[in-house]
Order: sequence, then structure tokens, then C-alpha cells
Amino acid sequence: MERVNRVPRIAAYKATGGRRPLTMVTAYDAPTSRAADHGGVDMILVGDSVANAVLGYESTLSIGIDEMVHHTAAVCRIHPEALVIADLPWLSYHQGWRRAVRSAGKLIKAGAKAVKLEGGRDRQEVIEALLKAEIPVMGHLGLTPQSVNAFGGMVVQAKTIEAAGALLEEARALVGFGVFAMVLEGVPSPLAEVITKAVPIPTIGIGAGAGCDGQVLVFHDLVGFSSGHVPKFVKPYGSVALEAEQAIAAYVKEVTEGVFPDPDHSYSGADGLEEWAAGMLVELGG
Ligand code: KIV
Repeated sequence: MERVNRVPRIAAYKATGGRRPLTMVTAYDAPTSRAADHGGVDMILVGDSVANAVLGYESTLSIGIDEMVHHTAAVCRIHPEALVIADLPWLSYHQGWRRAVRSAGKLIKAGAKAVKLEGGRDRQEVIEALLKAEIPVMGHLGLTPQSVNAFGGMVVQAKTIEAAGALLEEARALVGFGVFAMVLEGVPSPLAEVITKAVPIPTIGIGAGAGCDGQVLVFHDLVGFSSGHVPKFVKPYGSVALEAEQAIAAYVKEVTEGVFPDPDHSYSGADGLEEWAAGMLVELGG
């Protein structure tokens, strides 16, 4: 399957008749990046969800631009075929366009080909400044995790007709500002379908139903490696946590029983070393 992994191609995907849904998954380091890329996704998102998924924080608010640069560089170091998009973390783009461009520039220098930020109309100045600096921007609307406190928790957004209409206008505004695609998170499926029909750029859904132009999931949720509460929209396609626990239990058992390491997993020395060591052990009283 040919990947859709360049910004202009993604932006024009719908207009040029692209039919199959686009795929995106998060990755935060070299091994998850490799797994995502070999799995064949179009886009890899270095999400600020690294805060919860990997670093043990309660929300994405705890992570800053330096950590995002660190994770973005690790993801890009394996040179994935998929388009790498990095999240601008909370407060890295809320204090003026100059700071936003500086923050985004760090992610691009770390290897990302585009950045994602949360919000609609309020982000006009920032998005336009990023685009002027030649940095492609993906939007993100709905249950935007950086607004968790303003929302009073991780609750599905735009459930009423009024709120749905308002979100549709935010989506249209993002298109006007020039984003190349947008994530729709935690919104009712019928609304996501309407927005998808109304905008010329791809919508990438998470907890937004099947009517979007693409889907994204958090790596650890997708492979069954997450801990704690797993949201309703997550479908685990593997059980990596269980496999990891079983592997470690087997290792603990073999080490404590003296089965591991065996000669197949050990090194021998040059001629004579074995005899020398045997002599030494006798001398040492072993
Ligand atoms: O940080 C993240 O993983 C995200 C996705 C949920 C879209 O923003």
C-alpha cells in the first residue's frame, strides 16, 4: 500500500480523490518509531501523550518543549518513511507567536516535518506565524487534552447541537488559517462526520468514530501496553504488557533456578583460559 506521507499530499488527499482512511499512531522513541513505521502507518505523531503513556504523569500538562525535542529526535533517528509530526506542548505556543515559532523550530530541527497544536480560532496568529516560517501545522479540536482543567476532566466535547455548530466553525476557521489536516478527538461520531464532510483537508479521528478521513491511536493503547484507565474508544490489537510480564517472570525463574545464563548465552576465552580459571578457582578455595 502506497503511503501518504508528505504534507502537500495529505493536504490534497481529499481533493485528489484519496479514498482509503489515513493512519497515524504515536511513537516516542526509536523502538516504537520502528514498530510504527514497519507497521505501515502514513504518519507518526510524537504526541505529548508521552507524558501519560510513558513518563507516568497524570496529564499532558507536565511536559515541556525540551522533553518533546528529546523524544522527537529519538523517533526521527531511525529515519521512518512515515511523516513525523511533533506536538507543541502546553505553554510552548500560548505566549505569543515568536515563542511558538522558536518552540516549533526546535521540533523541526530535531527531525519532525510538521507540528501539531490544540485549539481553533484563538490560534490564528500562531498558526499563521508558523506557516510563514515554513512549518506545516496540523490542528487538533474537540477533547483537547491540554484543556483538561478548563473542561473539568477528560469529557467528550460538543455533545449538544449548539456546541457541535460552534466546533464546526472552529474547524472551518482552522482550514482558513492553513492547517494541512486536523485531529478530532473525543467528539460524537455524527459531528465528526459533518466536520469531515465540511472541510477540504483530512480529519484524523480518535474517539470520533468511523466517519473521519483517518484514525490515530496512542501506541501503548494500540499494542496493549498501557496501564490504568483505558478509554472506551481504544481497541488493543495486542497484549504487550502481558507478554512483557510473562517474559520477565520466565527470566526471574530461570535466573533464580540457575538455568540462565547457559553456555549458549556465555562467552568462552582464548586457548588455555578455561584451565587457568579452573586453577585459580581451586587456589581461591572454590
Ligand atoms: O498526544 C497525543 O497522543 C495526541 C493524540 C491523542 C492525537 O495528541
